[in-house]
Amino acid sequence: MSESQCDIGFIGAGVMGKNLILNLADNGYRVCAFDLDHNRLNALLEQDKKECGGLPARVETCNSYTELLAKVKAPHLIILSVPAGAPVDDVCSKLMDAGLKADDIVVDTGNSLWTDSVERAKRYEGKLIFFTTAVSGGEVGARFGPSLMPSGDRYAWSRIEPVWHAIAAKVDKASGQPIERFEPGSPVREGEPCAAYIGPIGSGHYVKMVHNGIEYADMQMICEAYHVMRTALGMAPEEIAEVFREWNRGPLNSYLINISAEVLSTLDSVTEQPLVDVILDRAGQKGTGLWTAMSSLEVGCPAPSIAEAVYARSLSTRKVLRTRAAQKLQGPELTQVAAEQREEVIAQLHDALYCAKICVYAQGFDLMKLAAREQGWQLNFSEIARIWRAGCIIRAVFLQSISDAYDRDPKLSNLLLDDFFTQQIADHQANWRQAVASATLNGIPVPALSSALNYYDAFRTVSLPANLLQGQRDYFGAHTFARVDQPEQRKYHVQWSEPGRPMVEI
Ligand code: 6PG
Repeated sequence: MSESQCDIGFIGAGVMGKNLILNLADNGYRVCAFDLDHNRLNALLEQDKKECGGLPARVETCNSYTELLAKVKAPHLIILSVPAGAPVDDVCSKLMDAGLKADDIVVDTGNSLWTDSVERAKRYEGKLIFFTTAVSGGEVGARFGPSLMPSGDRYAWSRIEPVWHAIAAKVDKASGQPIERFEPGSPVREGEPCAAYIGPIGSGHYVKMVHNGIEYADMQMICEAYHVMRTALGMAPEEIAEVFREWNRGPLNSYLINISAEVLSTLDSVTEQPLVDVILDRAGQKGTGLWTAMSSLEVGCPAPSIAEAVYARSLSTRKVLRTRAAQKLQGPELTQVAAEQREEVIAQLHDALYCAKICVYAQGFDLMKLAAREQGWQLNFSEIARIWRAGCIIRAVFLQSISDAYDRDPKLSNLLLDDFFTQQIADHQANWRQAVASATLNGIPVPALSSALNYYDAFRTVSLPANLLQGQRDYFGAHTFARVDQPEQRKYHVQWSEPGRPMVEI
């Protein structure tokens, strides 16, 4: 390839970067890649060569930012797949030093904090066009079709749109099911792409952050169901995998249920024991679940099951302390479920997972709605659910129903109030309550499943004990309260230390 012939410059050839580059190449884009780590560039070239099977290479690499800019057509389209945080700014400043111009576009595809993206767009204004695209789908998604959540400058979007539509995951228009083909050189071109413009800068990464919060809760709840089956039902990992495979044929059908079955039916190559039994029970996290929980607290939008999922990971890391506590702290004797009741308990867990999952999505979409209101974003919730139907980690059959709910009412105030979901929970909640109660009576922790149930019950309660709470606040801090029999804006205070405790209007 001669100078200035590449369509796209790509910086960062780690796992996600390499796979996105090969996906772009499959779709006919000429990419020039740069990475400070030459081994990564070599691995990329090797992979490209292997996949090309003797045909000319589709990807080229370079040794510097200056060379990258020389090899890519102007105005440049540069995609970054570098770790979130300081590396993004470092690359932007190196690109500017190398001669990047004001009409060149830089697209950040990392898991950046959304406020950093807003900040960057401002900082780089007039120097480059800073655009973002949050990517979900892990390694395989990046290679054969991720879900993409772009946001930022409209002109940049007009340039990047055809590229993202080409490489994104696709769903069948009629059935809403993913169209998957995991073959290098044979990208899926038919169907609806899972890439849609989300809104102004920051909104795409906010939506992806909430996606990850939902991902945390969804994963945690599947783990809780596994835990009950493993302990109270004494089931072997392979038996639980079979249950998950069965669940995957119904409304719980999802990528996460599928991979959970895969993990559970895999044997450790060293001991030949179930792999899950040799994996240490300390969960890692990179921070996006935490950001979602923090944002929910800041916005004042309850997302307790997402927060519980983050806490569950934190508690899991305190293995030494938990091991000590296990010797000292008492709980109920675990009652093994009799074999003839196994099916019934499994059905309860199924429904618990289903109802709790609805609540988690209700929390996530509510959070996006409130954040959008605060930021002045016009988010299209039906479309967000649609672009999560394929490619991303939380892809699930269920997302079609969410999209339908927002099509029926784009201003829906909470997913639980959509008739379809109202009815689903009405039909399945008895089992959910039973599953949470049994686990609790047996001393098996189910923090996400039970917090979702508490969310549901609090959400449908007209009179919460916040009246007493307001009384407490007024007692010690004169924080005032509103009365049920007066307009809410009128505030009252009781003079608690005065005889007769008279009330005054403030
Ligand atoms: C995705 C994933 C991806 C990644 C996260 C979660 O949508 O493809 O969410 O972004 O798996 O980084 O990582 P942690 O579990 O380590 O926080």
